[in-house]
Formats: sequence, structure tokens, C-alpha cells
Amino acid sequence: MNLPFMETGVILIVDDNPNNLEVLSEALIDTGWEILIAVNGEGAIAQAEYACPNIILLDVMMPGIDGFATCKRLKSNPKTCDIPIIFMTALSETVDKVKGLNLGAVDYITKPFEQEEVLARVKTHLKIYNLSQQLQTQNQQLKQEISERLAVELQLQKLTQELEQRVQERTFQLQQAQINLVQQEKMSALGELVAGIAHEINNPVNFILGNLNHASEYTQNFIDLLYLYQQYYPEPEVEIAQKIDEIDLDFLIQDFPQIISSMHKGTKRLAQMIHSLRHFSRRDDAAAKPTDIHEGIENTLLILQYRLKANPERPAIEVIREYESLPLVECFPGPINQVFMNLLANAIDAIEEGMGIAHWGLEQGFCQPITPKIWIRTSLKAQSSTVTIQIADNGIGMTEEVKQRLSEPMFTTKPVGKGTGLGLSITRQIIEEKHDGAIWFVSEAGEGTQFWIEIPLIRKESQPHS
Ligand SMILES: Nc1ncnc2c1ncn2[C@@H]1O[C@H](COP(=O)(O)OP(=O)(O)OP(=O)(O)O)[C@@H](O)[C@H]1O
Ligand SMILES: [Mg+2]
Repeated sequence: MNLPFMETGVILIVDDNPNNLEVLSEALIDTGWEILIAVNGEGAIAQAEYACPNIILLDVMMPGIDGFATCKRLKSNPKTCDIPIIFMTALSETVDKVKGLNLGAVDYITKPFEQEEVLARVKTHLKIYNLSQQLQTQNQQLKQEISERLAVELQLQKLTQELEQRVQERTFQLQQAQINLVQQEKMSALGELVAGIAHEINNPVNFILGNLNHASEYTQNFIDLLYLYQQYYPEPEVEIAQKIDEIDLDFLIQDFPQIISSMHKGTKRLAQMIHSLRHFSRRDDAAAKPTDIHEGIENTLLILQYRLKANPERPAIEVIREYESLPLVECFPGPINQVFMNLLANAIDAIEEGMGIAHWGLEQGFCQPITPKIWIRTSLKAQSSTVTIQIADNGIGMTEEVKQRLSEPMFTTKPVGKGTGLGLSITRQIIEEKHDGAIWFVSEAGEGTQFWIEIPLIRKESQPHS
């Protein structure tokens, strides 16, 4: 007889009765299976462990340890616990059948044996055992596959995260590079324009200034000469007397030098302004150089003068300077001036926005008039070899939302055409990256804003190596 589901196999028959052993062996011999025999429990346990049979037919009543005790021990041994056990009991022993099944047996066959039945039951259980083994193997494979897939998925997740992070980093770098580019282009174009205009104006202004010195001297000479005439010819001709009256000579003599003097003052201021413009747009910035920070601030303020003056919407902005004596700071003067320009322009914008609201509040009668102010404080921290520049305003201040979004490049609360939202990003870059400095601020909506910048007196690259 063939067992198509399992070509070869081992079957262990355990019985102390030689008759039974013979009958069973006969019943199973044609299957082509290897048949092992044990005549007591101990022998069965030893053989099961050694030969690993595919099924065990186990008698209940045996001398020494009986079938139940043998079954218990087989089930508690990891090597033999999975081998299906079929009990062999007498027909009437119902209690034994239940006990055997409770101990983990898969079935029972009753004595006297029916050959057909024995074969059928053994076949069925072998099939079940075989299928369950296959299932277990498949299960194992499935588990293995799942864990492999999970590992791949985890790897994939990790890679995706890394990729996302890289994209973010690259995007940030790109944004920074774009900002730099825009800024460089803007500044070089503006710088060139300003420097060009300043240069063109400089010559005629110097020319006027120089000539005004002569004009003032000549005027004085003319006046002296007139006085001499008056002294020697106190009674002039009628026509001359009439002309003196007509032109109000006394007033003219008094006013003319004053006109020349104010022209002189105005032109000197113009020359100063040109000097500031040329300094502000310095293009000789390839290397850091010892720089007077206060001069930079003053130049910037001079350029912003037109915005600080009073206008129909508000009084003049008062600039309060609290300068400590500072040494020259090794920095890039052009970019540093740009920082002052950005922070001061922001302060003026904030004040104007604040004044708009205050104006409305005044009209409504619940607001005190305030004087718009900008404080500029400088200090030297000898201990850390840094200088600190504080620029504060009593403008509109920043809401929590504005403060949180401030690190976003291109963030602005100003209308299109007025603000690009680049000022602070550029400022941060100039301070942190170009100068190894720090920048921070405190702001309260409706109260004003204070910015601090801190830069080292000497740049790292130029410090001697220790
Ligand atoms: N002193 C300040 N007081 C109140 N808000 C400020 C002040 N400085 C900056 N801000 C806020 O931060 C935003 C971003 O400033 P940033 O200088 O970067 O750009 P901007 O001034 O809007 O435009 P840009 O400087 O390019 O002309 C401003 O729009 C404003 O809302
Ligand atoms: Mg700005």
C-alpha cells in the first residue's frame, strides 16, 4: 500500500503484548513504513527521542510506567512533544480514552484491532501531522518574509527621512544663496549708483565751497570799500542817494554776509553728506579692516536724516545716542553699515506704523501723545573682547505671530513695494556668518523693539594661532 502524502516514515508501536505487536505490525507492514517496536514505556521514550518517529501507537496497560505516564513524559520533552500519539485501549475503557485525549493524544484505537480501522486512523493522523508540519514551515517562512519586509520598510523609512532632511537642508542653502545673490546684486548696483552720484556731485560741491570762501572775502572787501566811499564822500550825488534808498543798502550790507555764510554752511553739509555716501557704499570690502563703528552709525543716520525729520503725520524722531568709547573693530564696514541701515530703517518703519495707530488713539481720546524715539547704545565687553550695539525703538512692536515667523526668509508685514522681508535675514547672515557675531531681540506689541548685535573685536582668522 502506498501513502502518497509521505513516501517514507517511521512508526513506533509500544505494547507489552507480543500478540498485539504482531497483529499491528502485520496491518502496517504493507505501507512501506519503517516499524519500530518498544515493549515498555522507558523503551518507547528512549526510541522516540533517538529515532523521532512520525507517529506512536501507545498501549495504556503496561508493566513499569503505563501508557499515560509515558505519554506525559513524551509531551513534556521538546524533542518528542510534537509526535502524534494514538492510544490503544480496550473497547469498554471509556475513562481511559478521555484521559488519554486529555494528556495530548490525538486519537485512540480499540482492541481487538480492526486492521482497516488501524490503517485508516494512522493514515489520517499522519496526514494531519504532515499538513500541520507543512503549515508550520509555511508559517515560519511567512514570518521570516514579514520580518524581512519590515526590515526593508524600516530601511526605506530611514532613507526617506534622510532624503527629506537633505532636501530641507539643500532648500535652506538654496534660499540663503538666493538671498545672498539678491543682496549682493542689490548692494553692488545701489553702491555703484550711490558712489557714482556722490563722485559726480563731489566736484561741483567742492568747487562751490572753495569759491564761497573767496566770495565771502570779496564781499567783505566790497563792503569795506563802500564804507570808505561813504567816509570820504558823505554827500553823494542825487542819483547815487536814490539808488542807496532803492536797494536798502544798510540791510543789504548786513544781510549779504549772512547769506554767504548760510550758503557756506549748506554746502559744507552737502560735502559731509557726500562723504557719508561714499563711505556708506564702500566697495573696498574684500577684507575686514579696523573700523570706527560710531562713524558707520553716524553715516547711516545722516543718510536716513530725511526720514527722521518731522512730517505732517508725526513729530521728528528723536535719536538718543549712548555711545561708550570703543576701539576700532575689525570688520567689513560696508556690510556692517548695511546692518545699521536695516535695523534703523525697520525702527523708523515701526515708529511710523505705531504713530498711525497712536494718531487714531489720540483722536479717540484714549492715548497719550508719545515722542517717537530711537535709542542707540554701544558698549565694550572687555572680558569677551566684543562690542555690543543696541538699537531700540518705541514703535509698534511685534506680535507673537510676527516673532515666530521672523526666521522665515522673505517674511514681511509691510505692503508690497515697501518691504521685501529680506532685511533681517541679510542682517543675521552678515552678523553671524561674516562676523562670527550674534544678534537677538526683544519685542512687545505696542511697546517697541530692541535689537542687540554683538561682534568680536578681532576676527577669528586674523587671531594668532595658539
Ligand atoms: N523694529 C521693529 N519693530 C517692529 N517690527 C519689526 C521691527 N523690525 C522688523 N520687524 C518686523 O519684521 C519683519 C521683517 O523685517 P525685515 O527687515 O526682514 O523685512 P522688511 O522690513 O519687511 O522688508 P525689507 O527690510 O526687505 O525692506 C517686518 O516686516 C516687521 O514686521
Ligand atoms: Mg527691513
